[in-house]
Amino acid sequence: MNAAAALLARIRVGGGVPRHVAVIMDGNGRWARERHLPRPVGHREGMKSVREAVEGSIEAGVEVLTLFAFSEENWNRPPMEIGALMSLLEEYIARETAELRGNGVEVHVLGDLGRLKPPAREAVDRLLAETRGGTKLQLNLAISYSSRAEIARAARRLAEDVLQGRLALEDVDEDAVSLRLYTAGLPDPDLLVRTSGERRISNFLLWQLAYTELFITPVLWPDFTRSHLYEAILDYQGRERRFGRVTA
Ligand code: FPP
Repeated sequence: MNAAAALLARIRVGGGVPRHVAVIMDGNGRWARERHLPRPVGHREGMKSVREAVEGSIEAGVEVLTLFAFSEENWNRPPMEIGALMSLLEEYIARETAELRGNGVEVHVLGDLGRLKPPAREAVDRLLAETRGGTKLQLNLAISYSSRAEIARAARRLAEDVLQGRLALEDVDEDAVSLRLYTAGLPDPDLLVRTSGERRISNFLLWQLAYTELFITPVLWPDFTRSHLYEAILDYQGRERRFGRVTA
């Protein structure tokens, strides 16, 4: 049995696999710098880790995987790096769509797709259409995503619904907010993995992470394999989640 299979066997014994895993894929730039390579090479290498995370999630029985691929703040990076990231997104879609569909993955996007240039936008629309109906794993790609912008958008939509008489003011509660986020209808993440050792949330899923267990690993994203995912899940299985209550 190889190392990944041994970890998977331990996960199966442990029970209580996280239904929803979210990942901040960080460290592509440092991975490239350590090798005296341009930053986009790190992002390209990071695509392999995306595949590892998707396949590992399916194997482990995770239902929802949310990957932070590109933040609203990332639009402030040098145009060359933005161009490289968008090209990689298109390449990922061209190369992986058939495989994702074959593996029963349904892809969704969280974020403001209006900011993407037409080729990237069309590729994303194709990916969403071609994977619709997958039942093994829901893969959420956060692209041009900002959690504060998402919450402001939900507030705007709530205000509109109240103004138009579709919602009573006293019905503006937590569920009403959740239903207007990009993640409407999904369970909140049980586990957040952040690579590269940074201990920040970076404007990611601020509402949804209220009671999420955090796992921070020093591994840089391009070095991340399914074994690292399994180690995070095993660590999660050892946690006691109290949701603000006392131990039973
Ligand atoms: C953070 O590393 C990573 C990103 C901003 C982009 C993530 C993109 C990928 C993993 C590849 C493409 C993914 C898909 C789904 C097609 P960083 O550049 O901030 O690294 P640093 O902190 O070391 O500089």
